[in-house]
Amino acid sequence: MQIPQDLIETATLKLKSVQSEAEFFQLRAQYLGKKSFVVTAFSKLRELQSDEKLNAAKELNILKNNLTKLFETSIEYIEGKSDYKKLDVSLPADPFLVGSEHPITKISQKIINYFTPLNYQIFSGNEIETDFYNFEALNFPENHPARQMHDTFYLNSSNKSEYLLRTHTSNTQVHAMLNEDLPLYMLSPGRVFRCDSDTTHLPMFTQIEGLVVDEDVTFGDLKGVLIDFLEDFFNEKMEVRFRPSYFPFTEPSAEVDIKFGKQGWLEILGCGMVHPNVLNGCNIDTKKFRGFAFGMGVERLAMLYYGVTDIREFYSSNLDFLNQFPS
Ligand code: DAH
Repeated sequence: MQIPQDLIETATLKLKSVQSEAEFFQLRAQYLGKKSFVVTAFSKLRELQSDEKLNAAKELNILKNNLTKLFETSIEYIEGKSDYKKLDVSLPADPFLVGSEHPITKISQKIINYFTPLNYQIFSGNEIETDFYNFEALNFPENHPARQMHDTFYLNSSNKSEYLLRTHTSNTQVHAMLNEDLPLYMLSPGRVFRCDSDTTHLPMFTQIEGLVVDEDVTFGDLKGVLIDFLEDFFNEKMEVRFRPSYFPFTEPSAEVDIKFGKQGWLEILGCGMVHPNVLNGCNIDTKKFRGFAFGMGVERLAMLYYGVTDIREFYSSNLDFLNQFPS
């Protein structure tokens, strides 16, 4: 493998003439982004014989580390130069500059707009929650992996039974079932938190929870609601697959996949019939009432809807990105 020897040198030269943060990030993408020489070379390593592979991997690692360091040390300098520091904050607002809703707000609203005419009430839930509402009342066995520190942000690590940042919006199911009259049709959008971060995961993201508790509701009703919703959302006939899965608070549980162009089957939400333990725990008469529930990731739906490939774009505050979603 041919590894160019002058990458650090040319990057250093180009960095010197950078005038703004935007230019800086463009340059960094050129040298360290998905299409950069370093990243593509790493993916080509597997085509090499083992000796050559080992040497090339070593050289590439050194190159990548040096480039990363170079960009890390340059950012402070660029920040010092950046345009916003030069702004006169006392200038009057530009009347032609109009803001717009964030794409995640837009998609949340689009989902809410589908369910409210079906009489689902909107509930907001607590982001700071107790173990009881986030896990215990949802029938998570004591040793369930989702309870472990690597998934959950605990607010007081010395006493786990205290507060945590909710890991899903399913906590709202418990509040609603304990406090509201039946039958219950609820939808609950909000932020959730997990210790996770890459191109498809964020430590903070958005979910929308749905819950119905009524007499005689069936899995067939759940399927009907979700298929209709997905077809309305994407405005086309969809191939939808309900794949058996496991969630402690539903039985049976399913993951819903949709067939999406060249990408094939994509997992889009979780759902199921509310587990009798959960209903009983909320003092609901399981002889009379049954429930179904579903939970979807708003960023995931927004990525498919808008064709965004890196989830981090939604939260990078990059106006070039955000301006693509005018109101
Ligand atoms: N809370 C689940 C998660 O975050 C998603 C989910 C699955 C919600 C099934 C539900 C459900 O209401 O029935 O992974």
